Amino acid sequence: MNKQNNLLLALALFLGFFALSLSGFSQTAMQNIAGRNCINLNGQWPVIIDPTGTGNWRQVWKSNVPQNKTQFFEYSFDGGPKLNVPGDFNTQHPDLKFMEGTVWYQKKFNHLANESNRYFIHFGAVNYTADVYLNEKLLGGHEGGFTPFQFEITNDLIEGENILVVKVNNERHGDGLPGYGYDWMNYGGIIRDVNLVQTPTSYIDDYFIQLKKSIKNEVEGWVKINGQKANQKVEVVIPELKINYSTQSNSDGFAKVEFKGKFDRWSPTNPKLYEVIVQSETDTIRDEIGFRNIDVEGAKITLNGEPIFLKGINIHEEMPLRAAKAYTETDALVLLTWAKELGCNLVRLAHYPHNEYMVKMAEKMGIMVWDELPIYQHIQFSTPGVEEKMDLMLREMIKRDRNRAGVVIWSLSNETYQHTANRDSALVRITKKCRDLDNTRLITHVINSQGYNNNTFNVWEHLYQHCDVISLNEYIGWYVPWQGKPSETKWKFDCTDKPVIISEFGGEALYGSNYGPSDEAAWWTEEFQEQIYIKQTEMFETVPNLCGLCPWLLVDYRSLGRMHPVFQQGWNRKGLLSDKGQKKKAWYVMKKYYDRLDKK
Ligand code: GCU
Repeated sequence: MNKQNNLLLALALFLGFFALSLSGFSQTAMQNIAGRNCINLNGQWPVIIDPTGTGNWRQVWKSNVPQNKTQFFEYSFDGGPKLNVPGDFNTQHPDLKFMEGTVWYQKKFNHLANESNRYFIHFGAVNYTADVYLNEKLLGGHEGGFTPFQFEITNDLIEGENILVVKVNNERHGDGLPGYGYDWMNYGGIIRDVNLVQTPTSYIDDYFIQLKKSIKNEVEGWVKINGQKANQKVEVVIPELKINYSTQSNSDGFAKVEFKGKFDRWSPTNPKLYEVIVQSETDTIRDEIGFRNIDVEGAKITLNGEPIFLKGINIHEEMPLRAAKAYTETDALVLLTWAKELGCNLVRLAHYPHNEYMVKMAEKMGIMVWDELPIYQHIQFSTPGVEEKMDLMLREMIKRDRNRAGVVIWSLSNETYQHTANRDSALVRITKKCRDLDNTRLITHVINSQGYNNNTFNVWEHLYQHCDVISLNEYIGWYVPWQGKPSETKWKFDCTDKPVIISEFGGEALYGSNYGPSDEAAWWTEEFQEQIYIKQTEMFETVPNLCGLCPWLLVDYRSLGRMHPVFQQGWNRKGLLSDKGQKKKAWYVMKKYYDRLDKK
């Protein structure tokens, strides 16, 4: 009997995986959705809140219209709540405030058939997993809360009304990216735009139009066509520079692109973008692209050949004034204006790729972007499937942002634990994959494993041999008391010839807190935080090869593990701004330091 059971189980598993492979995992999404022919599906979507996960068993993606007088269904999208898409679900319904579970979304839309087009459903991001059904058929699933994905639906659409159902689940996974533990609000939902995308039968899926590494007047890139007519004439046109480059794609739809031009290179003081038209015989797509060089020369970071100091700030993807997930262009403008006011020329989008509005707005405002994967702290590097997830998320992030000149750093992990099985080899592998995908930007990993004894930092990290920049987080003065004069801090690096960025530092303060002595941490006073920043700025003068700073962080943000009922209330209070955008005393210390740097 037992043998028979095992056989049945093996068969069931095989059929399950076979069905999923038929339905298809999501493809990596075509890039530059804004330049495509889209029908935007944003709006109020009816939902079914499913805290017990019963929706699977009830198959809520199927019609609930009774077929006879005795039939009934114990679910319905009609008559229930509706939620805004995009947007996190936690802040839209009282039953969802702390929800980590399943919410089913439904969207009906009409379609007029057209044989000469292809159709895709494109999601900017869904946190954390999505199972997508169209007209009762499972299209497939996606895992990862911060990168775009799509499904081709050309052969699934019907004339007239179509019904899309998305199962969203934001439960944390031990083998997830991130894993179980992270220090930000786990907002679930369809958190970014949803679009029905129409393309020609052979369309431009992807392209890379950027300056060749370290070369100021030469583009080295490519164009990728998806579709039957793979072999086409391809052109890249930059009208302002009178560039009209043409080439031919091969039988794989791939066309190398190489041309010269007198580019007015992008920089924070000159955020120049060009209209770029990428066209083939069957498709045309327009983009606004900047051209710049970001390099490491010796132990310096250079932008367009000139040394540059990265005056950064950390930001989470949250609009504190709403205490909710940020997802609009206005949210991006508010957060980036706050960063600009502090004197920043870079934002570290912690700890995951933010929405595209943020990346594009930063580029337009002349703010460099640090793009990061949520390979955060405790990751199960040796669990089967985890490295595949890392690889997919890397490709999704780079495919979306590869033509954004504002993006200068790919950061591939944050504070992972050095002695986790397979951690080093997995992170070295993803570093090499990143460089294969894009050798024009700087690559880093962020650590906090450095030792700090006798007022001396010992930075020993195998990964840095493979990185362009050493990035480390330290909280001296908050989590770790000072061991001596900040100005007498010593540093020992096993890697001594690379630029160093202090990618996080700071401490907490509740705006206006004066509940106790300002020289005691336990009262969350602004003065205590101010002192941390004053001493940190003294210590920065001792850091060898220091090329950048990112205070943690711009503004207070929600993190349910921060549970002090008076000072935190579920907020991490390390912001230089309060959750209402009020400047704390430490804000002025950092502002003065950045202004002084500009005068050096
Ligand atoms: C870590 C981590 C952040 C976290 C911060 C803190 O360095 O990278 O995500 O929020 O410390 O403790 O506030």
